[in-house]
Amino acid sequence: MAVGARHAPLPARFLMSSYYDKHVFFCCNQREPGATCCNNQGAAELRNYAKDRIKALKLNGKGKIRINSAGCLDRCDEGPVLVVYPEAVWYTYVDRHDIDEIIDEHLVHNRIVERLKI
Ligand code: FES
Repeated sequence: MAVGARHAPLPARFLMSSYYDKHVFFCCNQREPGATCCNNQGAAELRNYAKDRIKALKLNGKGKIRINSAGCLDRCDEGPVLVVYPEAVWYTYVDRHDIDEIIDEHLVHNRIVERLKI
């Protein structure tokens, strides 16, 4: 970095593709029964379903897709929620049909599912 320069260019490794092609975070925050939180609306079960389905499709791993749990993502009233990076597209969902659509359309074919987007 030049003396006096305030910003250095990003190293080349940050300009290349990310470790995962798609990184999906399911909020699985658990509050007391009846309280507003993603896990009281089936988040963990549907995260497991998504994880199993991605594995069955052999799409898991480096350079492919990763499904992760997250704590509260602070969009509780819109939940359950998940977010897909690097696009930073947020979704809500109700059931396996919604998860299948997010997997088949967004994760596999790079098409945003407008009806579930928040
Ligand atoms: S509990 Fe899921 S966003 Fe807050």
